[in-house]
Amino acid sequence: MQPIGIFDSGIGGLTVARAIANRLPNVPLIYFGDTAHLPYGDKSPELIRHYASRISIHLKEKGCQSIVVACNSASSNALGAIQDAVGKDIAVIDVVKPVVKYVSQRFSGASVGVVGTRATIESGGYQRLLSKSGCNVIALATPLLASAIEEGFYTGLVSEALLQVYLGQGTFNDVSALILGCTHYPLIADQIAAILPASVEIINSAELVADSVALSLGLDLNQTNTMNGTSSKVLREFLVSDLTVSFAQSAQRFFGEEVHLEESSLWKF
Ligand code: DGL
Repeated sequence: MQPIGIFDSGIGGLTVARAIANRLPNVPLIYFGDTAHLPYGDKSPELIRHYASRISIHLKEKGCQSIVVACNSASSNALGAIQDAVGKDIAVIDVVKPVVKYVSQRFSGASVGVVGTRATIESGGYQRLLSKSGCNVIALATPLLASAIEEGFYTGLVSEALLQVYLGQGTFNDVSALILGCTHYPLIADQIAAILPASVEIINSAELVADSVALSLGLDLNQTNTMNGTSSKVLREFLVSDLTVSFAQSAQRFFGEEVHLEESSLWKF
């Protein structure tokens, strides 16, 4: 079976890779974290398109038949460019549409919040799609969160202080659901939930995206496995464009098991 390619600006997308590995334990995966260019959330749409397209071509060249854009900033700004770059025979799965589908079905007519990087929120992608299905959308850019999480600050005072600044003013107190519109945020989902009223459902895209991937492979969801471990024989390749000790340490926490990161030569000069 050909591998599924998964990429993000860094290692946050490993939260999505984890859910895919649980859902499809026997499918080979190649993960690419563009740590040399992290964060994408502060970059222009043009630059995000450039990076995302180049990485997608690289994953195609490595034999991937489908590509999961495990980054909301790239999903919101670069989907068309990615599909053009890899051609129509490669399935490109983004992290926005599966969430919008789920939220539209459950919360049509209700108020829904979304937090994400500047690139994601300023693209207006979530707002447009959710408004179309009758949701009242409150969107907020929370630009410092992804970098703090990537640096390992996701359980203590740093992330708590940032969340107080972003969410402590009550902006999302009356929404029915809050979408975590960044693949780094599942790591602080509990802290986010603790700040908001218990009535706010926190929406984490990873499981929804994993379901979408299974469906795109033509698999019946009832026939796929959901498990916590991974099969030891199946190919799992984890590439980053700039390998540092801190990324190597964080990767394990994001994926939930030991990860052997390798440095890709994609951007090397
Ligand atoms: N994890 C990414 C996202 O979902 C990007 C974080 C960043 O690089 O700014 O948007």
